[in-house]
Amino acid sequence: MLDFVFSNATKIIFGRGTEMKTGQEISRYGKKVLLHYGGGSIKKSGLYDRIVESLRKAGVEAIELGGVMPNPRLSLVREGIELCRKHGIGSILAVGGGSVIDSAKAIGIGVPYTGDVWDFYSTGRKVEEMLPLGVVLTIPAAGSESSGGSVITNEDGLYKRSANSVNMRPKFAIMNPELTFTLPPYQTAVGAVDIMSHVMERYFTNVKNVDFTDRLCEATLKTMIVNTPIVLKEPDNYEARAEIMWASTIAHNDLLGTGRIGDWATHGIEHELSAIYDIAHGGGLAIMWPAWMKYVYKHDIERFAQFACRVWNVEPDFRNPEKTALEGIESLKGFFLSLGIPVTLTGAGIPSDRFEEMARKATEKGPLGNFVRLKKEDVEKIYRLAL
Ligand code: NZQ
Ligand code: ZN
Repeated sequence: MLDFVFSNATKIIFGRGTEMKTGQEISRYGKKVLLHYGGGSIKKSGLYDRIVESLRKAGVEAIELGGVMPNPRLSLVREGIELCRKHGIGSILAVGGGSVIDSAKAIGIGVPYTGDVWDFYSTGRKVEEMLPLGVVLTIPAAGSESSGGSVITNEDGLYKRSANSVNMRPKFAIMNPELTFTLPPYQTAVGAVDIMSHVMERYFTNVKNVDFTDRLCEATLKTMIVNTPIVLKEPDNYEARAEIMWASTIAHNDLLGTGRIGDWATHGIEHELSAIYDIAHGGGLAIMWPAWMKYVYKHDIERFAQFACRVWNVEPDFRNPEKTALEGIESLKGFFLSLGIPVTLTGAGIPSDRFEEMARKATEKGPLGNFVRLKKEDVEKIYRLAL
């Protein structure tokens, strides 16, 4: 196990009706807030009205900026930064999923910065400061409610890039599983894939003697495997929704990565897909994982065999661990298929004519991944394997 420092100060407020605490929580950071949200699901569900009421009761004035799209765009971020400066806004409330939260984070780091906010995403410039950010989470998926990451798409060139800093963790996240009852099956499914992906990116590591975090990862994956089919059948099953919602945070709040080095190639490979084809991030991941695994499993057959046995209950074949490893990969693919989502590029209607461009963009800052280092040629082959 490697040495590590772990600190995650996001306050989690979890359970039924917790959105009514929003005003009280955000008022700790000032009385004027940017209320940031997406394309309208919060108005349809009635959540918007409850949030406005809670802010009013706490004496908080809200300046609104809705319209965040999945795979959030830089242009709206710039609009948000201007709006905050114009109104002297000192804190942000993000009501929605990863896209809204990431957009809010981008605005929050852009306001105190004198340069162009894209610097943080394109050059890896260090984030020193972010406006205090509160979250009301409506979809368990990206884990942005307590992560230090933000992923933004620059429409100019279709670059989807991330900024990361411990200074970008939200101050609090309000998580009421009931708010996720309205999720369409597709969003539930691709959200589950993203949650599992955040675990798997950390699971496939070259660091030895990480049994404790291996087992935390396996428990999180098993929780997803059990509960996702339940909520697809019963969207308003509170208990199963609650398991998934908490798993989404734990999967990406950095606890599972303590003492180990994660891989993250599959995320890099996927971001090129969602940047160009605007597919949901989890939808892209469901396609890229089986392909990545098939390309790299020989690097550590034992770890893949462990994944197969402990996560997917594959019977170990001690004389042929490669067979066990491959059965694990097939189990993962079968599970994603059972959620009703495509696991190939062809199935998702994505053509093969831009693989070279995507592989080039994905590796422009150097090889991808830590478990296996992937050069441009490797990434291109992985796209082909996903066809
Ligand atoms: O926009 P509205 O109308 O709200 O609809 C949204 C959106 O269309 C809808 N939705 C959300 N909650 C709902 C709901 N519909 C009905 N009922 C509800 N309760 O779901 C759609 C998808 O929302 P989005 O926020 O895009 O989903 P997600 O949370 O999966 O976020 C995806 C983004 O997060 C990034 C991804 O790349 C992608 O851009 N990621 C961010 C990370 C981070 N910051 O740490 C890490 C991840 O790996 C990921 O890359
Ligand atoms: Zn992700």
